Amino acid sequence: MKWPHQVARMAGIEHPFIQAPMLGVTTPQMVAAVSNAGGLGSLPVGGLSPADTASLIQAVRKLTGKPFAVNLFAHSIPALLTHIQLDEMHGVLEQYYAELGIELVKQPAESMQFYTYADQIEVLLQEKVRIVSFTFGVLNDAALQALKKQGVLLMGTATCVREAVMLQDKGIDIIVAQGMEAGGHRGSFLNERNPPLIGTMALVPQVVDAVQRPVIAAGGIADGRGVAAALMLGAAGVQVGTAFVTCDESSTSDLHKQTVLHAADTDTVLTNVFTGRWARGVRNRFITEMEQAGLSIADYPVQNQLTAPMRKAASRENNKEFLAMWAGQFVPKTDPRPAADILRSMIQQAEELLP
Ligand SMILES: Cc1cc2nc3c(=O)[nH]c(=O)nc-3n(C[C@H](O)[C@H](O)[C@H](O)COP(=O)(O)O)c2cc1C
Repeated sequence: MKWPHQVARMAGIEHPFIQAPMLGVTTPQMVAAVSNAGGLGSLPVGGLSPADTASLIQAVRKLTGKPFAVNLFAHSIPALLTHIQLDEMHGVLEQYYAELGIELVKQPAESMQFYTYADQIEVLLQEKVRIVSFTFGVLNDAALQALKKQGVLLMGTATCVREAVMLQDKGIDIIVAQGMEAGGHRGSFLNERNPPLIGTMALVPQVVDAVQRPVIAAGGIADGRGVAAALMLGAAGVQVGTAFVTCDESSTSDLHKQTVLHAADTDTVLTNVFTGRWARGVRNRFITEMEQAGLSIADYPVQNQLTAPMRKAASRENNKEFLAMWAGQFVPKTDPRPAADILRSMIQQAEELLP
């Protein structure tokens, strides 16, 4: 089969197959395994400190000389919560913290600190990163210019046509069209409280028609049939996340892996209760009870910070009811195998299907 060659040529890879960046799941070993096998590994560093960002990039470099992408979160920091909102959320979370045997430290909103991509750009430039992908927005003009000046290939995430056109207008080289089947956070940025929920099958051809950039299909692709279908829709390549959650090189908890391995098509939902941004994961008690409580949820990354100690304790206590277990709708296709095997079998199956 003739693979579309544009993205492979631009990124210096063999097949236009991108392992999705998955914060908390993707390791330097996963990135290197995929890149060494001819795909594009993606290293997630969204929200990490500049020091952690640098050491992860260096760790990947020790394992591969092949191209890989570094993935940023392009959100802005929202206005902090009022004391009333914070008291309300603390009040609800306190019971869950107590159930897990940990104390809720009521941190005042003013003392919360967050890293953003603005803190990381310098590291990416110093480390001479060649490919940068991002989600949750568009990097600001200063960051885009600095990266472009250094010849960095830029990939942005869109969840509707308008976002894709905006990425193109900002000079982004490759557009990742993320359908609502996708595991993890929606990359939406024009209306993130009410994100567009367009499936990959409908989104990809519309984005392909609207922009003059290569489009990568993401969301619900977990075997060679999905890869072949995406290419038939006009995609120039694919980005696959959920299928790698349980791979040998994944660093997520056994609980997350086991849950994902046994999940069915109906088990995932979109929720904002863990982080303040809409994301797809396997339903559990925390999601259901928070939905029923009907609280107003703080924006990302504030809510993320408020629930972080609870998620950490849940992982330690082996309690999946309070963990964020991100996964997409094609979750039954996960398999505990080396990442390179997953990549190779998807490519082989797609090659058998397409002329
Ligand atoms: C566990 C998990 C974590 C994710 N974390 C990130 C991330 O850090 N950055 C990002 O751009 N996308 C992230 N995503 C979304 C992926 O980039 C991609 O859109 C999605 O995995 C594609 O759909 P699929 O899961 O059905 O393959 C994550 C997805 C999952 C499943």
